[in-house]
Amino acid sequence: MLILALESSCDDTAAAVVQDGCQVLSNVISSQFAVHAKYGGVVPELASRCHIEAIWPVVQEALNTAGVQLEEIDLIAATQGPGLVGCLLVAFTFAKSLALVRQIPCVGVDHLAGHLLAIHLEAEEQRPEFPYTALVVSGGTSSLFAVNSPTEYRLLGRTRDDAAGEAFDKVAKLLELGCPGGPAVSKQAEQGRVDAFAFPRALADGSVDFSFSGLKTAVLNQVSRFRQQNVPLPIADICASFEQAVADALTEKTIRAAKQCGHQRVVLGGGVAANRRLRQQVARRCAEEGLLCFLPSPIFCTDNAAMIGLVGWHQFATGKQVGLDADAFSRSPLN
Ligand code: KG4
Repeated sequence: MLILALESSCDDTAAAVVQDGCQVLSNVISSQFAVHAKYGGVVPELASRCHIEAIWPVVQEALNTAGVQLEEIDLIAATQGPGLVGCLLVAFTFAKSLALVRQIPCVGVDHLAGHLLAIHLEAEEQRPEFPYTALVVSGGTSSLFAVNSPTEYRLLGRTRDDAAGEAFDKVAKLLELGCPGGPAVSKQAEQGRVDAFAFPRALADGSVDFSFSGLKTAVLNQVSRFRQQNVPLPIADICASFEQAVADALTEKTIRAAKQCGHQRVVLGGGVAANRRLRQQVARRCAEEGLLCFLPSPIFCTDNAAMIGLVGWHQFATGKQVGLDADAFSRSPLN
């Protein structure tokens, strides 16, 4: 079965052609970084307009790269939520319209489910069996799930305030490192000392929830002190200490959640899962605890349409489809 998958939940317009759920024939992403950079964050109205301009060229490129004609597509899958509603509506409406014209089925996909299953886009030997504990860390989400099958997920814990990606982006903005924040902070962190500053970890309460607002405030206070003293900021040290604090909190809670569930396998997903320090730390701690660790390639961590096609295929197999009246949703019912 050939699936055309679309994604426009935030600032990436993406289209992919996926065969039978897991064989990625093309995976095209058009990023809007340059449009939003001068505003220091995503401007929703501008993002929606950019999606409208990009969606058809991106779909055409996905079809061309896959060597597939539109007439050969059997199923259309699009992100239905969560995200910015004006943005979501572009790919979702495009998908429903195309399905109507072509008289083929259409499924609406929860973006978080995409991150939970993205690891199954990897080669067969790199895919985990079910069940597993999945950490989804992106710009809007920091949550732990028990993934029992391709369509059954249970929320174990989530952030009580900021998402990890949001914390990376805010620290990057504070340090004037540009956008997107995560990779910029990570690059600086490579040259810094992880123990230069004792930033808080918020691990103590025994739960598997996260909190990053205290860490963000601690970084802000540290930077303010340096600025008041008029001394140059030790940017690399601040970034390395901050990144280590995020990695510690995410890793320890993930291991705790896997143990509580009795799971043997740990999976990462979402943009922050592309972070090198986090990947190394989760892999090391899993090895120490006798758990198997599965890390998607960075291209499948950040927003992409291939993961939407994968989830759409599984959902279609369980009989799910959307009609023309289906609406986009800004918050995920999974979270
Ligand atoms: O999953 P994603 O592409 O979009 C959302 O659904 O939010 O995640 C984007 C987030 C941003 O906050 C970005 O700064 C962060 O992921 N990110 C990273 C890295 N790459 C992307 N954070 C830390 N290290 C990275 N290498």
